[in-house]
Amino acid sequence: MSSALWQRLQLKLPVIQAPMAGGATTPQLVAAVSAGGGVGFLAGAMLAPEQIRQEAAKIRGLTDRPFGINLFIQEPPAPDDAELELALRLLAPWHIELGLPPPAAPERYCQPFGQQFEALLELRPALASFTFDILDGKQMQALKQAGILVVGTATNLAEGLAWARLGADAVCAQGREAGGHRGTFIGPQEQSLRPMLSLVYELAQNLPVPVIAAGGIMSGKDIAGAMRHGAQACQLGTAFLRCPESAISQPWKYGLAAAKAGATRLTRAFSGRMARGLDNRYMEEMAQWQDQLPAYPVTNALTGPMRAAASKVGRSDMMSLWAGEGVAQARELPAAELMGQLLLEWQAAYR
Ligand SMILES: Cc1cc2nc3c(=O)[nH]c(=O)nc-3n(C[C@H](O)[C@H](O)[C@H](O)COP(=O)(O)O)c2cc1C
Repeated sequence: MSSALWQRLQLKLPVIQAPMAGGATTPQLVAAVSAGGGVGFLAGAMLAPEQIRQEAAKIRGLTDRPFGINLFIQEPPAPDDAELELALRLLAPWHIELGLPPPAAPERYCQPFGQQFEALLELRPALASFTFDILDGKQMQALKQAGILVVGTATNLAEGLAWARLGADAVCAQGREAGGHRGTFIGPQEQSLRPMLSLVYELAQNLPVPVIAAGGIMSGKDIAGAMRHGAQACQLGTAFLRCPESAISQPWKYGLAAAKAGATRLTRAFSGRMARGLDNRYMEEMAQWQDQLPAYPVTNALTGPMRAAASKVGRSDMMSLWAGEGVAQARELPAAELMGQLLLEWQAAYR
């Protein structure tokens, strides 16, 4: 990152804690990462505008260091009857297995992006990052006027160029190793699966803005490797999932603790958008249908009750256990200690 950005974010270590919707990123995690010399992110995507305000207030109660807010750019979907009917039929047996009433279409598939965006503008975090699509010129201008640094997520060169052209302050290059959902918005998702180092190198060579590396970065040595390929900072998600400050469910944490290398796979079956998580029975059995399920956020909302119920009774075979390819190297450490170790390893990598 340019030294101006480093100064704005008061970085001692080029670590950005990835926004992780679904419970992982608590105010305590954000504050601990910031205190450790990195920058933390509030994952706002699944939160109502009022909850985003409350979480930001909690973060500000714990730290006066800069932090970011992340949103998914999305419009309310309008699924057609046939795809909805197929999805409900495919989910029915899983509901029976869990003793749940039959699946049904919810009143609303996602939070209202426009109102979330308004809340973000009003809160004026140091950073705002976006995924799943790109902003329009007016929204970008509003962020600039509010003095907020903007990071756009890219999984290929065309997306990186689009964000740079729009005026983003940095682009987050999401490699195929990354845990959670893929941000692809130009071209087919299966053609935007470049390994992190090669994507970072390509974007760093071609974009006029700083590149942030994301995907499979688990150690200080990995950070140094990504920086050698042109990254100016690194965004780590999976590395923080096992921290006590991460509020993901116990079955998810147990799955992470037991995971071996190669334990993850990409799937569309939970949400209608490609995402990486620990391989399980639901992913395997639904793989044959995943391309016919409605696009995100429809399938994500439809599988919500199943995933929540499975989590309550410890049925990890029906949960979305998002994690990246580096999961076997995730450490069960308080975030402050993890930041300390990353700093030492990063410094050692340059010696
Ligand atoms: C559990 C989980 C949830 C995630 N949620 C979000 C999110 O809400 N917004 C976002 O931009 N990226 C999200 N991501 C992706 C991260 O921003 C980042 O690309 C990824 O964590 C990097 O790969 P790594 O997990 O191997 O470190 C999520 C990742 C994980 C593991």
